[in-house]
Order: sequence, then structure tokens, then C-alpha cells
Amino acid sequence: MNILILGSGGREHSLAWAALQNPKCDRLIVAPGNAGIAEIADCASLNIEDGGAVVTFAEENAIDFVIIGPEAPLASGVSDRLRAAGILVFGPSAAAAQLEASKAFTKQICDAAGAPTAAYGHFTDAASARAYVQQQGAPIVIKADGLAAGKGVIIAETVEQALSAVDDMFSGAFGAAGAEVVIEEFMTGEEASFFVLCDGETVLPIGTAQDHKRVGEGDTGPNTGGMGAYSPAPVMTQAVIDVALDRIVKPTMAQMAQQGTPYQGVLFVGLMIEEGAPRLVEYNVRFGDPECQVLMMRLGAQALDLMHGCAEGRLREMKVNWAADHALTVVLAAQGYPGAYEKGSVISGMDALPEDSSHMVFHAGTGRTAGNFTAQGGRVLAVTARAGSLTEAQRNAYQMVDQIDWPEGFCRRDIGWRAL
Ligand code: AMP
Ligand code: GLY
Repeated sequence: MNILILGSGGREHSLAWAALQNPKCDRLIVAPGNAGIAEIADCASLNIEDGGAVVTFAEENAIDFVIIGPEAPLASGVSDRLRAAGILVFGPSAAAAQLEASKAFTKQICDAAGAPTAAYGHFTDAASARAYVQQQGAPIVIKADGLAAGKGVIIAETVEQALSAVDDMFSGAFGAAGAEVVIEEFMTGEEASFFVLCDGETVLPIGTAQDHKRVGEGDTGPNTGGMGAYSPAPVMTQAVIDVALDRIVKPTMAQMAQQGTPYQGVLFVGLMIEEGAPRLVEYNVRFGDPECQVLMMRLGAQALDLMHGCAEGRLREMKVNWAADHALTVVLAAQGYPGAYEKGSVISGMDALPEDSSHMVFHAGTGRTAGNFTAQGGRVLAVTARAGSLTEAQRNAYQMVDQIDWPEGFCRRDIGWRAL
């Protein structure tokens, strides 16, 4: 099978790494990829949000199967273009990708499916949004409706903060994403992520994870794309998984099919769990980054079979071979991230690190300059280890981190603390 993976982050490096473990993978191209991915696969420059260009590239390269990593090409309909051209693709249609691309769409689906989530209001003008805030009080959560690169959610501690967030959104601070606003009840509890595959009908759970969104130790400071993650998430007991499946995920997937927009691909279910009861925080229509890195390390070669079976509508006949293992990933980021940071510093010491089914450095924002790996992004590396216990996975990941020589980078030293 000739495979094309779209994307350039640590997520896509781990997807490529898992696909290559599987003997069914004959040739792998990642577009656009990064310097770490280029060590294991061919990389091609391609505008991955241009459906026509992706179809032409796939046809020219005799691609049998396309795996779409990030949300932007999904929301812009790249999977629809591939399907129309008869090319097998893993990833939802643009219509189904609304589950991530529009918060109001998701809330309406939850209403129709009876899925537990935060109480909310949906507004298209500032005056009624402000009135709702005044009536509800604080804390309260203000969300830009559309895709805002993870920055469109404001947790307001006071009514004043909430009102100014409303004004910012309606005055264009988040561009088109903020033209509509969802205002939600602030939920308390412990957050965890649950990943399932859905082929339009059958739902197959493939793992749980928790990430660390804040930049600082002890989960403090500004939000980031994620500074580390581990799988499984201890808070996701079998009882919580069963409730999440029966009350949230399956009713949502059934509702999507009933509306004529069946969901095919991975669904990232963000949950808030309080006293054993999960409520939906958000859906994403893709793997998380860095959650994908820990899931891929745990699933290994079978990840490709599962994604391929999902795309072919064969999930009913598939099962996951679970191991009693734990994986943990530590993100190394450029100093200054998530604010301004410099590019171009040299990263060394990685050659001596183990690379096997339990140890991998997945690259996110890296490039190659004069034979050296260099930092070319905010989040740069995801140092990932798998072991029989979370404590051991954490120790092994930090041992690897400590061998990497990159003075211009930093990481959190406490990834996994909540579970340990
Ligand atoms: P989202 O983009 O919807 O995932 O929101 C980003 C983060 O904001 C979530 O991962 C939560 O930590 C937090 N969050 C979002 N909605 C709520 C809510 N209704 N109550 C509490 N925290 C929330
Ligand atoms: N790590 C969170 C995300 O990928 O959205």
C-alpha cells in the first residue's frame, strides 16, 4: 500500500512511524513533513489545504490511502475531494468536521443527541451575549464559534472579564471565527481525552490520554498546544469509558449519520469528569498533538490496520490488541513559547538516543541546516517513551530529554504529575 500522510507536526511523525512498523506499508510520503519525518519517509512540499492539488499529487504518486493529520484540510474539504476522486482517505468530510470547526454546531448536536455537556447560549450579536453574561454571572466560558488555533476560548473569572471577552470577539479579535459566540457554564472536574474511531456506523475506542495544556509546572501560566501527555488516563476507568460511549459518543455519531453527515475518522472526545460522570467539553476531528504520539507508541503497527479498516468501513470486524503498557511524551519547546520565540538554534545529542518500539523522539518544528537539526517552530520535539508503568515511562522519557543538547529550548519537568 502506498500511503500519503498530510501534516508536519509531531502528530504526523508518530503516524508515519506507526505506519512504517506495518508490513502493509510499501511506500510512505508525508506532505509537507519536517526534518525528523524526512529521516524515515519521503517528504513532499504540497499545499495540503488545496483539495485539487492533493488529489493530483495522490494520483501522480499512485497513492492508495491518505491519512489527514490536522483539522484545517478536513474543514476545507480535502477528504471530500479525495473521496470524489475514488481515493481512500482517513478523515471526516467537511460537513462532519463541523464538530470541531463550529462550537455552536457541536452544542446543537449534543442537544439533539441528549449528550451531557455544559449549559450554553449561542449569540450573533454583542448586546444579547452581554445580557446573557450579566444574567449567568461568573465564572463563565466565552468561545469563538469557529477555528481559532486553540486560542478562541476565554475562561472568565469575573463578569467584567467575560464582557470584555464578548466585546473582543464581536469586534474581530478572532477574525471570522468570532463572528458567532458560544457562552458556556464553567464546568469543574478533571479533564481527559478519549479517542475513538468511527466508520460512519461502528464506534471503536482506541485509547485515553491526558495532556498538559499550560506552559508552566503545576499546570500554571498561559495555554499552549500541549506540553506533554500520557496514556492511559487513570481517571478514564472502564465505568467512565462506558458512560462516555453510551451517553455521549454513540448518540453523537448516530445523530451525525441521521442528519446525513456520517462521521468517518478519529474523534477526539474532550471530557470533564466529576464524581465519575463525564460531560463533553469539545470534540476535535483529528488526533491530538501530543496525544497522538503516546497513542501511536502504544498501538504500534496495528494503528495502520485500524485507520485503514475505518476508512473502508470495516470497523465492525476489527478489534484493538491492548497491552498493559503506559506511554508518556515530554514536549521540548523554544524559549518564549507560547509567546514570541527565535528560530534557527541547533539541537544536538539526539544521535545517541535509542529509537525502538519504546523510545522515540518525534519531531514537530524542526529543520535541517548544514547537517544539523535546527528549531523552526514553537513546539519542537516530543520525547516519547513506553514502559510497563507510568513511573517508568516518565523516567525513560526524561532520561532521553536530558541527553538532548539544546540550550535555547525548555520543557516542563512534571509531565504526568496528576496521574502519579
Ligand atoms: P476547547 O477549545 O473547547 O477545548 O477549550 C479549551 C480548554 O478550555 C478546554 O480543554 C478546557 O480546559 C477549557 N474549557 C472549555 N470549555 C470549558 C467549560 N465549559 N468549563 C470549563 N473549562 C472549559
Ligand atoms: N493537545 C491538544 C490538541 O491537540 O488539541
